[in-house]
Amino acid sequence: MADSPTPPRRPLISGNWKMNLNHLEAIQVVQKLSYRLSSAETDAVEVSMHPPFTSLRTVQTIIGSDDLPLALGAQDCHWEDAGAFTGEVSAPMLAKLDVAYVIVGHSERRQLLGETDEMVRAKLGAVLRHSMTPILCVGETLEERDAGTTLDKVASQLRSALDGVSPEAVRAMVVAYEPIWAIGTGRNATPEDAQEVAAAIRAGVGKAAGQEAANFVRIQYGGSVKGSNAAPLLAQPDIDGALVGGASLDPDDFAAIVAAQAAC
Ligand code: PGA
Repeated sequence: MADSPTPPRRPLISGNWKMNLNHLEAIQVVQKLSYRLSSAETDAVEVSMHPPFTSLRTVQTIIGSDDLPLALGAQDCHWEDAGAFTGEVSAPMLAKLDVAYVIVGHSERRQLLGETDEMVRAKLGAVLRHSMTPILCVGETLEERDAGTTLDKVASQLRSALDGVSPEAVRAMVVAYEPIWAIGTGRNATPEDAQEVAAAIRAGVGKAAGQEAANFVRIQYGGSVKGSNAAPLLAQPDIDGALVGGASLDPDDFAAIVAAQAAC
């Protein structure tokens, strides 16, 4: 069967709040953001918000009651559905809250909390089992970039995470390319460097899951994205959105990133 023609991929701008904002502050940020986004922008661009677990129910309620064009996202989940895992939150719990996207394998979890490729693969499976969409994070350290091993690192993270995942599931997923040295540092990859890695990720997806999955998978860039630097990154042909940390806490700045994406 012939591959489908390359689809227009709907970009996704995701706000990863990390460990910021209590549930009352969350209400203000979501409401302010909703005032700043036009319907033309949210028609063109999908927007997901990833508050801490303590604010998921609150944000779900505002999105539902005000009928906001925002998707709910989580920052992590456990790979088991239930059990004796103190402090953990499972994928079915998130699905019950209408969570659509779950970040998996963020570098802060890999580096600060010892999350391994095996754990990332298991979490990805749990997210898919419960009909949510994983945002799989991959990216290199500064040492790896300087050593010229960026593409190897990203390819190996991707291979490990996608092992045994069906092409249909891969096709619907999101991969976030986040160079670790660019996260929260104010430095970002040049648009050309980000495009080079995004293209390599797309090729890696093609190897793991076939050309059709590679054509459809959405690839975000993440790492110090702001309203002032977003446009040239988001204009790259293999970049379909952004995973935004710090700037997602400021509704004006986050809305400017969405506007930059809508203008692409
Ligand atoms: P940053 O974080 O935008 O604050 O650099 C990005 C991320 O970690 O997702």
